[in-house]
Amino acid sequence: MFDRIAPRYDMLNGLLSFRRATVWRRKVARFVRDDIPIRVLDLATGTGDQLIALARHLGNITGGIGIDRSDRMLDIGRDKMRCHGLENRFELRRGDATDIPFESESFDVVTISFGIRNVHDAHRTLAEMHRILKPGGRAMVLEFSLPESRSVRTLYLFYFRTILPWIGGWISGDREAYRYLNQTVESFPYGGQFVDRMRQAGFEGVEANPMTLGVVTIYVGDKGREG
Ligand SMILES: C[S@@+](CC[C@H](N)C(=O)[O-])C[C@H]1O[C@@H](n2cnc3c(N)ncnc32)[C@H](O)[C@@H]1O
Repeated sequence: MFDRIAPRYDMLNGLLSFRRATVWRRKVARFVRDDIPIRVLDLATGTGDQLIALARHLGNITGGIGIDRSDRMLDIGRDKMRCHGLENRFELRRGDATDIPFESESFDVVTISFGIRNVHDAHRTLAEMHRILKPGGRAMVLEFSLPESRSVRTLYLFYFRTILPWIGGWISGDREAYRYLNQTVESFPYGGQFVDRMRQAGFEGVEANPMTLGVVTIYVGDKGREG
């Protein structure tokens, strides 16, 4: 599906989120330590926007890797890395977030933005995120959630169920992909339920940080110093 929508993915992301997607990815950077050199792994990296946001807002990102299963998303991402002069710092390669092709304890930070909902096994992905982090490392998950306020939620769901699939389908030529978006967002655990999932995967100090009236949440969890 992501191979099909890749050429219009970035443009639709900006349009359908009212340019908020860039702001949310930038906010992920706020949860990263800025006092030590950081090597980052970005899962389900798509066209690489989360890595670009981290590099733009943090001077201590020494480098990193983005993995994704969609070759077309990765091709666009590699072009973007070249445009931003980041091709020597970030490598994008094909890989599965449920079976991360790296040794344990090899990264300081792991991120997954708008990806955990799309992988076929979220439990396994969280366990893999924990495995590849160095002791004391940090994981951040940026994902859609549902607003707590009933009136905001009603408005939001109207937009999500009707307007968004229509515009997304019209511009991308793939209505199913944008119906899939709202179906997965409504069924995926968020808030306390997702915090529990991160704890089950071994993360400590897990917190949920809702943004923009709760339409997205940044979850943050640490790997203990004991590993
Ligand atoms: C909504 S996009 C998010 C892309 C990017 N992180 C962003 O913030 O725009 C979801 C991505 O997850 C990728 N994906 C789905 N399942 C995956 C898996 N098991 N391993 C790696 N990537 C996966 C898709 O190919 C797609 O590029």
